[in-house]
Amino acid sequence: MRKLFKSVIALMVALSAVGCCASECGPKKECSKEEAVIETIMTRRSIRSYKEEPVCREQMAKIVECGIYAPSAMNMQPWAVRVVDSKEFIDGVTAVALQQNPKMGEQEGFRNFFRNAPTVVFVACPEVSYSGEYDSGLLSQNMMLAAWSMGVGSCCLGSVVPVMASEEAKPYLEMLQLPEGYKLLVAIAFGYPDCEIPEAPERDATKVMFL
Ligand SMILES: Cc1cc2nc3c(=O)[nH]c(=O)nc-3n(C[C@H](O)[C@H](O)[C@H](O)COP(=O)(O)O)c2cc1C
Repeated sequence: MRKLFKSVIALMVALSAVGCCASECGPKKECSKEEAVIETIMTRRSIRSYKEEPVCREQMAKIVECGIYAPSAMNMQPWAVRVVDSKEFIDGVTAVALQQNPKMGEQEGFRNFFRNAPTVVFVACPEVSYSGEYDSGLLSQNMMLAAWSMGVGSCCLGSVVPVMASEEAKPYLEMLQLPEGYKLLVAIAFGYPDCEIPEAPERDATKVMFL
């Protein structure tokens, strides 16, 4: 009995160390502090298959906080950020997308329109602004890198924007409660990867010139 009690305690300690935010993915943990940022940038990939469990709210709060610490012109912070982990919302938008493109549902393992992500962040900015799109891009990348540093995968999904702009998706767009005069720029899928981390698509170094 005593042995059983000890085993239960040991298991509880082990589980609490793992916590609700565990993930085996992400950058290698053994690099130095200096290398860690580069390692995170270089190993982040767009992830297009996720486990069902939503990213835990603690992690999402940190990810979004990192987002809003991005630079913005004159510190205007012109973005609006909406974190959605409601299955009802995600399934609702998926139903709209499936109406428009039924073939999508035939993909193997298809669960939702957001590459099966359980958590989606919608990023919007003013329709007319000095640098709203640029600033929101910086915010988006901050979120994706912060996520990857914690083993949370992500993928920008520009394809969501026209679906959300359609008449059928209007109730979902309204649920996002974007400020008056704002437009949706992108949806970003977040979740724990359920696939091999893909190789980096080739980059074109000729776009860079040292003068
Ligand atoms: C603004 C933007 C929109 C994107 N839209 C989509 C999309 O709709 N679907 C998708 O699978 N990937 C999308 N991506 C991901 C790109 O395909 C991906 O970043 C690119 O191929 C480079 O791969 P990597 O992110 O793994 O380095 C988008 C990326 C950006 C920046």
